[in-house]
Amino acid sequence: MKKTDNQVLVIFGASGDLTERKLIPSVYNLFCGGFLPEHYAVVGVSRSQFSDQEYRDKVVFNNEHLLAKETASEENLKKFADLVFYQSLDTKDVEKYSVLSDRLSQLDEEKETNHNHIFYLATPPSLYEVIATGLEKVGLNKQEDGWSRLIVEKPFGYNLDSAKKLNQDLLCHFEESQIYRIDHYLGKETVQNMFVTRFANSIFEPLWNRNYIHRVEITASEKVGVEKRGGYYDSSGALRDMVQNHLLQLVALVAMEPPVKPDAESIRNEKLKVFQSLRPYSEDDIKTHVIRGQYMNSKVSGNRVTGYRDEPGVKEDSKTETYVAMKFFIDNWRWADVPFYIRTGKRMPTRVTEVVIHFRPRHHHLFANDKSLANQQNVLVLRIQPNEGILLKFDMKIPGAGFNTEQVNMDFHYDDLTDVYVPDAYERLILDCMQGDATLYARGDSTEAAWEFIDPILKAWENNEEIPVYGYPAGTWGPEHADDLIEGKNMMWRYPCSNLTDDGNYCEL
Ligand code: BG6
Repeated sequence: MKKTDNQVLVIFGASGDLTERKLIPSVYNLFCGGFLPEHYAVVGVSRSQFSDQEYRDKVVFNNEHLLAKETASEENLKKFADLVFYQSLDTKDVEKYSVLSDRLSQLDEEKETNHNHIFYLATPPSLYEVIATGLEKVGLNKQEDGWSRLIVEKPFGYNLDSAKKLNQDLLCHFEESQIYRIDHYLGKETVQNMFVTRFANSIFEPLWNRNYIHRVEITASEKVGVEKRGGYYDSSGALRDMVQNHLLQLVALVAMEPPVKPDAESIRNEKLKVFQSLRPYSEDDIKTHVIRGQYMNSKVSGNRVTGYRDEPGVKEDSKTETYVAMKFFIDNWRWADVPFYIRTGKRMPTRVTEVVIHFRPRHHHLFANDKSLANQQNVLVLRIQPNEGILLKFDMKIPGAGFNTEQVNMDFHYDDLTDVYVPDAYERLILDCMQGDATLYARGDSTEAAWEFIDPILKAWENNEEIPVYGYPAGTWGPEHADDLIEGKNMMWRYPCSNLTDDGNYCEL
């Protein structure tokens, strides 16, 4: 196990939802798992006034996300709470940051945390640059007595220009090696396993190219709507919220070349090359290759479901997309002419994220019933969530006379590994940052390269009122126009059920 230095985690946005729902519970899990160093502290920072004890009450003793855990004994909670502190600060006022540096000096002294600090920006993006400036003003960006790292939450930019500006601004105060841009999909165990499946097995890699793969399909569907985040979501939309970051990260892992070493720079170099090879869309391509949709009210399993425009915080004539499906190509030696299809949406029938590799149909039909199955292909499904696992579809002989064939499933489920603890994505990513490992964080150049691909779509949508936003009833698989993206007889999206091996053409759950 890598060594973890003594350190302090400073969370900006300490009274926000992410801190309570994800960050504190993840650090708590690290505490229970024995992953924290001997000397450690968490300091919550925000404008609200709390004493240390009031803050502990809020994020530890009354935090339903902690209390729900099996490990939440009185003793554990008490011991963990002793590590948690609070500092009130008007983060917008860069002249006031000395209260934070004084508090950290005092804690470093008392807790022997060696002047090692992680600053986690769990605030609205408009504060990222201000906080970095404030930290620099009081020397907290320096790495003389200890180290200093900055974790930046998504969204990283609103479009290409703002992402470039944010990178430039942060780099005025911190070095690239100090900046950790978080994408929680990369912290998911099953996403990391895609890398291992490809590069630790000799059977897949020889087939992993244009000669054997017909198309690649990625679905990230959610059953929930925008919940309480209508205000944020309405100025974001699915393309910014899910595609520019999470889905393109999955594409990079599927499409990248093997890195020379399994280290941060080698892996991130290969991912960058994938983003640089994405074939840019022309405006005409966008009209035909990118489908956007918005959920409308409907009844799901007898219950009325609110349409997007009626959600709190959403404009009543909003054209924001809650669904995107797109077809694109990666122009390099390995993937020339292999279409990639990706889609994501809210208020779909079920919550599923999966990568589906469709192999080329067989070239010659030897067996009797083979011809009727001419389009039946071998398929490999890498299931990210839920019911995590891997499924391979292949043909078998039906027992009895003759050579009749049928497609069957061979599957592996993560939960078969009963003894293995699978950490939450945030838990894994925070621990990596604590140990100075940036492999699972996005590098500045690749964030910009991903925006470069997405930006023309945003511009085309902005400038062409006539590009439709198709309505789809909540609880369905999105607008039927997305079906037309997939060319080829009898070829369609896989309609995944929440159970990996439940096949079916269409399911509503
Ligand atoms: C977040 C998006 O980044 O990812 C949300 O902002 C989305 O809108 C979420 O619901 C999905 O994450 P997961 O881990 O539930 O697939």
